[in-house]
Amino acid sequence: MNMRQPLQSTSPSLEGCLADLSRIPFLEPEWLSLGYLNGSCHNLMQRTHVLPVTSGRAAIYLALRALNVGPGSTVLVPSYHCPTMIAPIVALGARPQFYPITPSGCVDQNYLDALPPDGVRAIIAAHFFGLPRPMQALRAWCTQRGVALVEDCAHTLYGTSDGKPVGAWGDFAIGSLTKFLPVTEGGVLVSNQEPVEEIALQPRQTKDQVRILADLLELLTCRKSAGLLSAPLRGLFLLKKKLRSPKQSTVASTESDIDRPREAWDGFKIDVDFATTRPAHATEWLARHIDLDKVATLRRNNARQLLDALSHTQGAHALVDQLPEHAVPYVLPFWVDNPEPVYRQLKAMRFPVYRWDRLWPDVPHLPNDQGLLWSRHVFQLVCHQSQTEQDIQRMADAFRQACQQN
Ligand SMILES: Cc1ncc(COP(=O)(O)O)c(C=O)c1O
Repeated sequence: MNMRQPLQSTSPSLEGCLADLSRIPFLEPEWLSLGYLNGSCHNLMQRTHVLPVTSGRAAIYLALRALNVGPGSTVLVPSYHCPTMIAPIVALGARPQFYPITPSGCVDQNYLDALPPDGVRAIIAAHFFGLPRPMQALRAWCTQRGVALVEDCAHTLYGTSDGKPVGAWGDFAIGSLTKFLPVTEGGVLVSNQEPVEEIALQPRQTKDQVRILADLLELLTCRKSAGLLSAPLRGLFLLKKKLRSPKQSTVASTESDIDRPREAWDGFKIDVDFATTRPAHATEWLARHIDLDKVATLRRNNARQLLDALSHTQGAHALVDQLPEHAVPYVLPFWVDNPEPVYRQLKAMRFPVYRWDRLWPDVPHLPNDQGLLWSRHVFQLVCHQSQTEQDIQRMADAFRQACQQN
């Protein structure tokens, strides 16, 4: 069981002491059921037409391909983005066109209204951070203009937007399972029109099936209460890591590693073979048999605790004062006044934080756009179901200290 420990204050020196904080959740066996679980709270897996895929970017690729996006097509995308949202467009030979976002992270509707009537095939609009954004006005614009809406729910497996479940507004919606569940690959493609279940994907090789199953077992041994079995198994997994050839991983793909050159970062590429291959059986099974309600409750509790703990932080503020109803964050977004030194300090501590400071090349300066500012000032603090109260408290202390010192 994931023991939630009593709140304790941390020691004054936080340097390096966050290294043991996991960026991804562990696998808790008691959250699994042999029967099929759909969850009672609104989530993407409940939509009628759902196709399990290998990643969120694979789902974007398949959605755009189903919309006949190709050479000569234009797809509208937010100026604030993870490059994994843009790579599928470029892989299809189409052109991304950036639109500005408002201070609340919404599509700038005035900009869209001023666009010439023709020439755009689709728009990707994201519910950033797991905080659902309004979609009704955008849906109306898309319908009026004949533009397909791809609702990017990579951060938003759960929640409602303008009175409907997330994922219900787009012609297609996409999700990323690695951001919410203890899996090392996985996404979903949702369609609100045609059935997508029939899309033919290449079968997964047996060695990959075994590897992914081993990954899940490894996530099982990471949990703090893993018990006696964990030590020998961990040794085995360490060996597995050494033997494994380096390959694209979708886990923590939003991480902007300040020490790695742009070319070395896989977010700018999409492996089309991988995108058109079925996920492993173990991934599909887990996504259908994990208690999604439990995951949502724990994540919300942790997010509330982090928001409360950082409500009066000098030099930084959360982008939301409180959690919207039904929202289950992927990360908590904080605006940091003096971002560069704070980011360096947090990274040196191995604080679980991301920042989208590696945008697609040549994002233009657009009128009233927040995107470029957000890419530097908005820090995404990792918040997931396996963090204990003590973990959250340590994070809050370290973040507050880094902001105050800079
Ligand atoms: C908003 C958004 N959409 C799509 C993706 C792609 O998801 P994945 O990493 O599962 O390919 C990401 C990845 O971080 C994302 O942040």
